[in-house]
Amino acid sequence: MSSPDLELHDIQSGVLRPRPTPFQATYIILRIDEAAAGRELMGRLRNVVASSAHAESPASDTWVSASLSYSGLKALGVRAESLESFSTPFKQGMAARAKLLGDAGESGPEHWEQPLGSNQVHVVLTAISTDQPQLEAALARARAAYEQFAGVTAIWRQDCHVLPDEREPFGFKDGISHPAIEGSGIPGTNPHERPLKAGEFVLGYPDEMSDTPALPQPEPLGRNGSYVAFRKLHQRVAAFRQYLRANASDAGDEELVAAKMMGRWRSGAPLALCPAADDPGLGSDAQRNNAFLFKSDDALGYKTPLGSHIRRVNARDAEVAGVVRIHRMIRRGTAYGPPLPNGQLDDDGVDRGLMFAFVGANLARQFEFVQSEWINDSAFFAGDSTERDPITGTADGSGTFGIPKRPLRRQLHGMPRFVVTRGGEYCFLPSLSALSWLSDPANYL
Ligand code: HEM
Repeated sequence: MSSPDLELHDIQSGVLRPRPTPFQATYIILRIDEAAAGRELMGRLRNVVASSAHAESPASDTWVSASLSYSGLKALGVRAESLESFSTPFKQGMAARAKLLGDAGESGPEHWEQPLGSNQVHVVLTAISTDQPQLEAALARARAAYEQFAGVTAIWRQDCHVLPDEREPFGFKDGISHPAIEGSGIPGTNPHERPLKAGEFVLGYPDEMSDTPALPQPEPLGRNGSYVAFRKLHQRVAAFRQYLRANASDAGDEELVAAKMMGRWRSGAPLALCPAADDPGLGSDAQRNNAFLFKSDDALGYKTPLGSHIRRVNARDAEVAGVVRIHRMIRRGTAYGPPLPNGQLDDDGVDRGLMFAFVGANLARQFEFVQSEWINDSAFFAGDSTERDPITGTADGSGTFGIPKRPLRRQLHGMPRFVVTRGGEYCFLPSLSALSWLSDPANYL
């Protein structure tokens, strides 16, 4: 069956549209104390939130997205049979899924930054822009939508920014690989990847598994919506640098070990295309830096280790447990906190990391599968029971990381935990018309 056209004018920009480069972002969490005020807010947000249409217009460089948690839908007074029709992970909330996600010990919800993961998180607003003045203007528009109501309170704010050269706090260029989506008009970044069915990312369309995937009810509420997994991830940058220093033979080897862990050099250049040395020109060339597959010339991981971060989370055409195409997601990460100065090996105690938003139509088989199986399941790769994702896997200092090499495989030991979960939530990104639907008191009778 051919897929129906995507209704881009009704889908929030935060679902499909690539972010501008560079950009700043602010996340704001709202609590709804009075249902009537919350519904009024939905109507006002309808006029503030941008759609996915006209992705190329200059005005599209600034936008606000609005999403609701399950507690948020309840606080609005959405009817029980409708609430019931949403997906199980969403209804349970991210904190309740902690065990599956590997959020234990210092990453456990009992240590999360408040109010993250609590039933106070009702609405998450995300404002994105290329520069601070435009971001402030977008925030002012969003504030005007909620500030006058006694029944809606802003309870958390996180300012984020892109670090120089679009690096994430460990120092790697980020925001490179994005899936191609049928009918979106937005090209993917890997010319060798066949576009994915739109239903993988937008509710109400055929996906890779079914022509009629589950849709939250009633249809005007669910259609053209999506789910998003928000995560605040603290990065131990000093520990990462110390580990490289302690486990590499010299400065050049440090960069090689770092690249083997990530699957890309810090410039973004993929090991798949330049395995022996970094090529910064390739790293910054969006036409070439994601144009590769693994299977035909690197099935065993001599260039890009099977357990490296990018190969675990998207094995592309290579053999892996799981069907890669049904576990893809739209991924938006934005740095928070100041960078650790170059060369500094001591921890300065400052909080820094990434605010992540993983967007997709199926939380369980996309974000949750990748997090629990490909990132944290040890037995997954080559039957090696002590390997997890070397960048963002749960680690206790006893794990290993294998780097295929001739004549002898290189093995790193004592992998520390470099990333700690500070909190997160599952939200529903309603369509623009669903925001209007949520604002209409008649739909709650
Ligand atoms: C603080 C933790 C993390 C850091 C520092 C990090 C960093 C990176 C970097 C530098 C890239 C390569 C650049 C790019 O393709 O945009 C990347 C790719 C990716 N990451 Fe992460 N990441 C983290 C956590 C996660 C998590 C938790 C997931 C999923 C649950 C994830 C999923 C992905 C995916 C799907 C890709 C694209 C792979 C590809 O298509 O080649 N990452 N990450």
